[in-house]
Amino acid sequence: MEINEIRELAQGEIQKAEEASKGIQDAVALNLFKSSYLGKKSVLSSLYPKLKEIPSEQKKEFGRVLSQMREELEKILKSAQDRIEEEQLRLKMEKKKVDITLPGYFENVGSLHPYQAVVRDITDFFLGLGFTIADGPEVETDENNFERMNIPKDHPARDMQDSFSIGEGIVLRSHTSSVQARVMEESKGEMVKVICPGKVYRRDNDATHSHQFGQVEGLVISPNATFANLLEILTLLLRHLFGEKREVRFRPSYFPFTEPSIEADISCFECGGKGCSFCKNSGWIEILGAGMVHPNVLRLNGYDDKKMQGFAFGLGIDRVAMLKYGIDDIKKLYEDDVDFLSQFRKE
Ligand code: PHE
Repeated sequence: MEINEIRELAQGEIQKAEEASKGIQDAVALNLFKSSYLGKKSVLSSLYPKLKEIPSEQKKEFGRVLSQMREELEKILKSAQDRIEEEQLRLKMEKKKVDITLPGYFENVGSLHPYQAVVRDITDFFLGLGFTIADGPEVETDENNFERMNIPKDHPARDMQDSFSIGEGIVLRSHTSSVQARVMEESKGEMVKVICPGKVYRRDNDATHSHQFGQVEGLVISPNATFANLLEILTLLLRHLFGEKREVRFRPSYFPFTEPSIEADISCFECGGKGCSFCKNSGWIEILGAGMVHPNVLRLNGYDDKKMQGFAFGLGIDRVAMLKYGIDDIKKLYEDDVDFLSQFRKE
């Protein structure tokens, strides 16, 4: 065979392949194309043995023509392959087309219960001041709940907290002050700086009082814990909870376990202090009880009241949550009404 003949043959084959490649639509056709133009039975493969028939001075040129032919055919194959891949991708994308103007799906994730949000807020505040968290049982001895808090059996102050008795000398604790007795017993005359969040129980039942509610107790005992420290901490706490602009007022009060005793009020949310039905026209909302630990309480719990003094406070969690979030019925806080609770979800 003449080298020119070979060239023509190669040219013709390339043109044929070019034409044929246009019709390839899928991987099967592509494979077929590959075997008929580059496979064992292809024209290209049939040309290699012809090398023997070529005069030796043309052998080099023959080799070049064949390798060019292979290159061209591979190029055609590659571009057909790219084309169908692209087409397949396009089809796939078309099927999965995303309409970015459609509203998304929202997973129904849970959120902090307003009660729990308040507990966390208060605990964070006190942890930041170096307090630790103490705990005690809800089923408590009469001794811890009353006696050691300076409320003996027939003391009229027992009427302030109408408690549930559940057996001889056992009550559902009526306040977290019972944990004071436990902490003092454990601390054996040493310094104390704790808060105690927890559930308490009283025979109460109206829109703002429930048989069950939460309190956060605070107790600090040291040789130099002062009344001024107490007022400062409570002022900071109330502004932290209700906003820097809130006015705080302290009034003298009475608790058997503190002397002197006080109650703290904040300026009314609704009227800003002018007086409205929400604050019973006083301009103030009562928020917590506190005072200096009564010397009797120190002594009853193993402290030397000549060396140590302290202050304590107790604050209603539900009440804070109701004020903060504008909840008008305390029962909403434990009824597990998802519609109600979902208002507090942060999207
Ligand atoms: N235990 C009191 C109550 O439940 C609150 C309180 C705690 C007052 C500590 C003074 C000191 O009403």
